[in-house]
Amino acid sequence: MRVLVTGANGMLGQDLIPYLRAHGHEVTGIDMEVDIRDATQVDDAVGRLAPEAIIHCAAWTDVDGAETQESAAYEVNVTGAGNVARAAAACGAALVYVSTDYVFDGTSARDYTENDTTAPIGAYGRTKLAGENAVRAAHPTGARIARTAWLYGAHGRNFVDTMRALGAERDVVQVVDDQLGSPTWTRDLAPALAQIMMLPPGIYHTSGGGQVTWAGFARAIFAATNSACAVDPITTEQLGRPAPRPRRSVLAVTKEGAPQLRDWNEALTHYLKETA
Ligand SMILES: NC(=O)c1ccc[n+]([C@@H]2O[C@H](COP(=O)([O-])OP(=O)(O)OC[C@H]3O[C@@H](n4cnc5c(N)ncnc54)[C@H](OP(=O)(O)O)[C@@H]3O)[C@@H](O)[C@H]2O)c1
Repeated sequence: MRVLVTGANGMLGQDLIPYLRAHGHEVTGIDMEVDIRDATQVDDAVGRLAPEAIIHCAAWTDVDGAETQESAAYEVNVTGAGNVARAAAACGAALVYVSTDYVFDGTSARDYTENDTTAPIGAYGRTKLAGENAVRAAHPTGARIARTAWLYGAHGRNFVDTMRALGAERDVVQVVDDQLGSPTWTRDLAPALAQIMMLPPGIYHTSGGGQVTWAGFARAIFAATNSACAVDPITTEQLGRPAPRPRRSVLAVTKEGAPQLRDWNEALTHYLKETA
């Protein structure tokens, strides 16, 4: 298929594009040279490339920064996503909009299913949810919403690399132990997105299997890298980041035919080995 990937230079885009190419797709990646906030730029690029599918990875991803710059985040995550969806609809392309577990408030005692009520507690989640709604409105017959979580990958700043570096130089690190989620390697997400691209329009959940807190995740990283660094578990309040985060945002996969990713710990071991 002719596939257009936005956010090509981002952490996910840089793992997704080689995967798609290796699996026979003709892929064009675009990043800031086509500013998605500008409908004319998006229409020109999409019109020229005439893709059969668009995987929309571009986003404002600075969760804390969004708290004080929500309208700037909105421009990218809602206006931009809407522009991409309108252009996809105009050329009849399937659209995959990559979304987030942060559309949920994190107060549920069980894993969130695709149809559970959304209630974002921070600006980033609000803009990503508004983006979901914008793409579904603009392209009702073609939009797939792929919610994922806690991404890490070789081509972006991420928790795993940060902890691996800290583990090599510190005796102890403080890590939040009251947020539960599912770490997801972008290389595992790539085939899942390619699969979702072929599934009927709708909402899909796709994140690493299992669940862990950030502190538990850090302990696993130290164990796998033979670091003697200890984890001092702290609360979200103690860390004091500007944006609130959902306390428990594990995503359940209940859709027929939806991809199930391998367990987060197995993926972590593989990632650490590959990037050692
Ligand atoms: N990272 C996570 O933990 C996580 C979790 C759940 C869901 N997601 C979602 O997964 C997707 C990919 O995330 P990621 O971590 O790969 O993000 P990323 O590394 O920040 O990549 C996003 C890309 O979008 C580009 N971009 C930003 N504004 C743009 C604009 N106006 N026009 C065109 N391109 C623009 C960025 O360019 P610049 O770098 O030049 O700004 C960057 O290359 C996003 O939709 C994100 O919301 C991420």
